[in-house]
Amino acid sequence: MTIKHENNNNVVWHCATVTRERREKLNGHRSVCLWFTGLSGSGKSTLAHAVEERLHQSGCHTFVFDGDNVRHGLCGDLGFSQEDRGENLRRIAEMVRLFLDSGIISLTAFISPFRADRHKVRSLAEDDFIEIYCQCDIDVCESRDVKGLYQKARQGEIKELTGMSSPYDEPQNPELVVHTGAHTLQQCEERIID
Ligand code: ADX
Repeated sequence: MTIKHENNNNVVWHCATVTRERREKLNGHRSVCLWFTGLSGSGKSTLAHAVEERLHQSGCHTFVFDGDNVRHGLCGDLGFSQEDRGENLRRIAEMVRLFLDSGIISLTAFISPFRADRHKVRSLAEDDFIEIYCQCDIDVCESRDVKGLYQKARQGEIKELTGMSSPYDEPQNPELVVHTGAHTLQQCEERIID
C-alpha cells in the first residue's frame, strides 16, 4: 500500500501553554514510553498490562497501546507485509510522541519485528524510549498459541506470521530483556518495575 505524505509547508505547529514539563510536574512523574517487543505469544500484552496495573496503583498516569486493539481502528487498513508493518509503527510512533507531550506513561505491545522500524521510533522518542525485549523461544510461543495463529500458519491459512514465515530481528541493545518463556509473569513484572 502506498501512503502519500503531504508536504505540509502551510501547517504550523501550535505550542501549548500547558507544556509537557508542567504536566509532568502535576502528575508527579516523567512521561516515558515502555516499548515491549517480541513474538506473538511471548507475553507482551499480558506483561504491559501487568506493569500498567502496578504503575496505576502507585498513582501514575498510564496507557497501553496493544497491537491487536490498534489494528481494529487506527491501523485497521493495514496488513502484515513489511511495508504495512512499517506504516503501522510509524503511526504508533507519532502517537507515542504525542503521548509523551501529554505527560502520560505509554506502554506499547507490538511485535515490531523489524529493527529499522524500532530504530525510527527510538529516534522520534529519543531518551524517552525504553525498549523491553520479551524473549521467548518460538516453540514456547507456539505451544501457548493463545490465538490459534501458529496452528493456522502450519495449516497454511495465515501467511507472513512472524517467527515462521516472516522474520523477527532480535533487539541488539534493548534497555531490558525479560525472559518471558523461562520466568513467571510476576518475575518479569518485578524486573521491569525495579
Ligand atoms: S507488527 O508486526 O505490525 O508490530 P502488531 O503487533 O501490530 O504487529 O500485530 C500483531 C498481532 O496481530 C498479533 O498479536 C496477532 O494477534 C495478529 N496477527 C494476525 N496475523 C498476523 C501475522 N501474519 N503476523 C503477526 N501477527 C499477526
